[in-house]
Amino acid sequence: MIVVVASEKGGTGKTTIATNLAIMRALNGKQILLIDADSQQSSMDFSRVRSIENNAPSITCMPVVGKGIDKIISKFNENFDDILVDVGGRDSSTMRSAISIADKLIIPFLPGSLDAWSTEKMADLVTICKKEINPNLIALSVLNKADVNPKNKDNNEVIELIKIYRDISFIASTLYYRVSYRRAIGEGKSVVELTGNNKDSKAMLEVNTLYHSIYGN
Ligand SMILES: Nc1ncnc2c1ncn2[C@@H]1O[C@H](COP(=O)(O)OP(=O)(O)OP(=O)(O)O)[C@@H](O)[C@H]1O
Ligand SMILES: [Mg+2]
Repeated sequence: MIVVVASEKGGTGKTTIATNLAIMRALNGKQILLIDADSQQSSMDFSRVRSIENNAPSITCMPVVGKGIDKIISKFNENFDDILVDVGGRDSSTMRSAISIADKLIIPFLPGSLDAWSTEKMADLVTICKKEINPNLIALSVLNKADVNPKNKDNNEVIELIKIYRDISFIASTLYYRVSYRRAIGEGKSVVELTGNNKDSKAMLEVNTLYHSIYGN
C-alpha cells in the first residue's frame, strides 16, 4: 500500500507519523520503503540515527523530491510490501505528484482553528485529485498533539471544523501531546520500541490504534 503523509502546514507531525508507521510496519515483517519527500530530510536524519544506534529492524529510507516522484514510487512499489511518503509542509509539485498515486493520504492537523482552516486547501486538492486523477484515493485526517487536559475544548472544536470536509474522513486515532514522541524520534525509534523508564503505554496504544486504522489488522 502507498501511504502519503502530507499537510500544507509545517510541524503538524508528518515525520513523526511517517517514521512511527514505517517502523511498526517493519516490526510486522513487511518490507517497507520510507520515502523522504521533504528537502529538510528529517526522515533521512531519523533513519541515519536508527542505523547508528543499530536499532532493528532496519528500514530503507531514500530522499525523493520533484514532480516525477509518482513514477519513482510506482517503480519501487513492485519491490516493497509498503511505501510511506513523508512530504514537506507546503503545497508543492512533489506533494501533488505523491498524492496522485497514493492509496491513502494521511493529513495530520493540530488543535486550533487555524489548522482546520488551512486544511481547506488540502480538501480542495483532494477533491480535484479524486475527480481527475486518483478516484480511489482515501484521505484521512488525524488530530496530533492533542491537549491531554480533558477540560480543554480545543481538541473537540477543531475536530468539528475538520469534519466538514466531504472528501476527507476524520479518523478517531488521535495522538496526544507526549514527550515520548520527541524522545523516540531522537533515538531513531518508534514510540512502541521505548523501554524502561521511557516506555509510554498511552502513546503506544494511540499509535497502535492509528496503525490499525490505516493498515487493518
Ligand atoms: N504527538 C506529539 N507530541 C509531542 N511532540 C510531538 C508530537 N508530534 C510531533 N511532535 C514534535 O513536534 C515537532 C514537529 O513534528 P514533525 O517534525 O513530525 O512535524 P512535520 O509535520 O514533519 O514538520 P515539517 O512540516 O517541518 O516537516 C517535532 O519536534 C516532533 O518531535
Ligand atoms: Mg517533517
